[in-house]
Amino acid sequence: MPLPIAFISTRSADKVRNIAPYSCIMPVLRPLDLICLASAKKRDTLNNIRETNEFVVNLVGHKFSDKVIPTARFSKPEADEFELAELSPKPSSMIGAPGIAGAYAWMECRLAGFHQGPGYTLVMGKVLRLEVNDACLTPEGTLDLDRTKPLMMFGSKKGMHYCTTADLNQFDPFGAMFPDNRDPLAPVYEEGTE
Ligand SMILES: Cc1cc2nc3c(=O)[nH]c(=O)nc-3n(C[C@H](O)[C@H](O)[C@H](O)COP(=O)(O)O)c2cc1C
Repeated sequence: MPLPIAFISTRSADKVRNIAPYSCIMPVLRPLDLICLASAKKRDTLNNIRETNEFVVNLVGHKFSDKVIPTARFSKPEADEFELAELSPKPSSMIGAPGIAGAYAWMECRLAGFHQGPGYTLVMGKVLRLEVNDACLTPEGTLDLDRTKPLMMFGSKKGMHYCTTADLNQFDPFGAMFPDNRDPLAPVYEEGTE
């Protein structure tokens, strides 16, 4: 199954900037403002989140496919991965860690907790702020997939095949899942719109 490739940007306690691609990432139930990353234990990303309690989930388009390996290759914790990968920072509004300029959306997250497993750690992050590049939205304010072409990948035995998504142009309201056609979470979205 294709998985997203999100770029996680963090800073160490000494403010060294780091970037890593993560595909094992998912929201935890609606309204999708709690995010879970599955991380191997030996990750500067994980150490930085532990030290600073924050991270940015950068959602990127297909043109970032050539930034995957430069940010996924091992580099020393003291290396600035924005410089290594020739990416520019985008200042965050709510946290110190910068996002990546050129992404189509940025989730500024605060650590909400860890779940330790054998060989992995699940990182829970509360989304404090979601920002989307207006150029990636339709006039109705929904994601324009043709313009955005989110970066995704599927795995095979030897590696990663990069791909993107297609819009089926079929829509169902959340309320359609409920007997009275009313979405019980509708008030949450009304309060949350900006
Ligand atoms: C497409 C792709 C997806 C990846 N997804 C994950 C992931 O979900 N979790 C993880 O721990 N590592 C993942 N990795 C590996 C890390 O990106 C890689 O080990 C990176 O060097 C970690 O950087 P860091 O030590 O600076 O955090 C992925 C690598 C690639 C290329």
